[in-house]
Amino acid sequence: MITAKACAKIILFGEHAVVFGKPGIAVPVKKCYTLATISSEPFSYTTDKELNEEETIKMAKLFKLLFSKLDTNKNLSAHIESNIPVGCGMGSSASLSISLIRAFSNFLSLNYDAEKINSLAFECEKIFHGNPSGLDNTVITYEMPVFYRRKKTEFFELKKPIHLVIGNTGIKSSTKEAVEGVRKRYEKDERKYLHAFDEIEKITEDARESLEKGDIRKVGKLMSYNHKLLKELEVSSDALDGLVSKAIKAGAYGAKLAGAGLGGCMVALADERNKDKIMKSMKDSCHEVIYTVVS
Ligand code: PMV
Repeated sequence: MITAKACAKIILFGEHAVVFGKPGIAVPVKKCYTLATISSEPFSYTTDKELNEEETIKMAKLFKLLFSKLDTNKNLSAHIESNIPVGCGMGSSASLSISLIRAFSNFLSLNYDAEKINSLAFECEKIFHGNPSGLDNTVITYEMPVFYRRKKTEFFELKKPIHLVIGNTGIKSSTKEAVEGVRKRYEKDERKYLHAFDEIEKITEDARESLEKGDIRKVGKLMSYNHKLLKELEVSSDALDGLVSKAIKAGAYGAKLAGAGLGGCMVALADERNKDKIMKSMKDSCHEVIYTVVS
């Protein structure tokens, strides 16, 4: 029996624009993770969560893909446990695939390196999201802050640890639908969308520099500006906007929706002194509040 782990992530900048070739910044969230345990038994799998019909179909496709890529006799069973909220922008699907790939690789002594794990996880992400950018699987595989562009990935270091308060609206959202919605609206009004993507690109580039310098105030401002642009892309919601305002009122440096939007999570940039106040302000309008420090 072998168990492997994969963390969660949060996107700090550039979601949606990243699908159109712009950069995105994501960081690992290590306190949330998936554990996959593999045993040598006739194939079956169990999870700690109840799966709906659509999720069950996707799991079947995931195992089919993994078994074909791993070239194994399939006499392996898997048990999956996770404390990552599902469908909420924290990378639950990429984390699931990566924990399974790591567990299979260890169990079958395949010794997959990070590059191999990442490219296989990208294939798995297509089952869940259709046309993913690759940002989620990359940040979760490497567990480092990443400045990601479709063809060029750069890892970078934060000058100072950042304190994040993540608010989960509890409203599940489909990344595939959110991405398709943006694409449709882009096709109707290319000028507006290209302008927004260009602005998001500038924000993301500035944000990387600010994170590398430790200019947390500037990072916060850029997050709030990024949220405003995501609203223009029509991927926010009243619940997300409400949480963003509450966090800012409680003293956050900045806040934005995180991930595909329409529901799911938002993230606020806090500091150690005001994180409790920010968490308290969000608690009543939130399904779950997660505090994490990324260094
Ligand atoms: O929050 P998630 O894990 O659903 O990621 C969505 C990020 C998008 O940029 C909207 C899509 C993508 O593939 O990058």
